[in-house]
Amino acid sequence: HDHLITSKQLSRPDIETVLDRAAEIDADPSAVADRHANTLLGLLFFEPSTRTKMSFETAMKRIGGDVVDMGSVESSSVKKGETLADTVRVIEGYTDALVLRHPKQGAATMASEFVDVPLLNAGDGAGHHPTQTMLDLYTIRENAGLDDLTIGIMGDLKYGRTVHSLAHALTNFETQQHFISPESLQLPREVVYDLHQRQDGTGIKEHESLEGVLPSLDVLYVTRIQRERFPDENEYQKVAGEYQIDAETLEAASDDLTVMHPLPRVDEIAPEIDDTDYAAYFDQAHNGVPVRMALLDLLLSDDRGIRGETDE
Ligand code: CP
Repeated sequence: HDHLITSKQLSRPDIETVLDRAAEIDADPSAVADRHANTLLGLLFFEPSTRTKMSFETAMKRIGGDVVDMGSVESSSVKKGETLADTVRVIEGYTDALVLRHPKQGAATMASEFVDVPLLNAGDGAGHHPTQTMLDLYTIRENAGLDDLTIGIMGDLKYGRTVHSLAHALTNFETQQHFISPESLQLPREVVYDLHQRQDGTGIKEHESLEGVLPSLDVLYVTRIQRERFPDENEYQKVAGEYQIDAETLEAASDDLTVMHPLPRVDEIAPEIDDTDYAAYFDQAHNGVPVRMALLDLLLSDDRGIRGETDE
């Protein structure tokens, strides 16, 4: 079955298929409005979410389906000690596909081994967040194009799962990736090793300061310091508030710079940037709907012959 666990499994044609389908849907959402009637998506969110959960729900309803939601850990039988393996085995029997967010890295891989319906990883700890990557790539393609791209990825590169997924996916394209972070929040060495295996090393550079690279950037992808992942609050306090950008920071940027952020932001991007031409982060969040409509449509369409539940 077509589980989506990390962006490492995605080739350039896979990515282009999803983005092209998302663009078609974006142009005419009504064309898919009834396509997946009687189809149910199971939402299993073991961690907080606003965008991912609500845009999956919106997407599923906009392609004619519906969702069933486990609700919070507190209100489910996870609270009584039920394992993730048992939970997914039960809910797959109610649904046609599953979306899982979990605090443990590797949780989606493990869970996918217990189910036959497609399972989409909506974030596993500091691991991966591949559906976020799809909407990030869609936004980058719209604003700057995916080839001959120079991108700066800044902030918490150690714990930032959106960064790990995006960096891997970008190795399918002609990109120069600049990673900007304090030394303590650099990309994990195994991620850097993986990126070097996938792309000529000239495409990847690490920096502690934005200043030198900012003028060359087409896209600046800013991330939140992932406070909840720090084993020690004191370590968080040492880096909190670093790598913020405001209008003054961007005086050195190209006029065509696109500023992105997976959101939620805390204080990384000053609100004064929101109404400038640089800001793409709210469009980026909105792109989550057509992109997830496309992903779900492609995944669920493979099954239609088997289930025979649609009239197409
Ligand atoms: N970007 C993102 O994953 O946001 P949520 O945590 O609100 O889903």
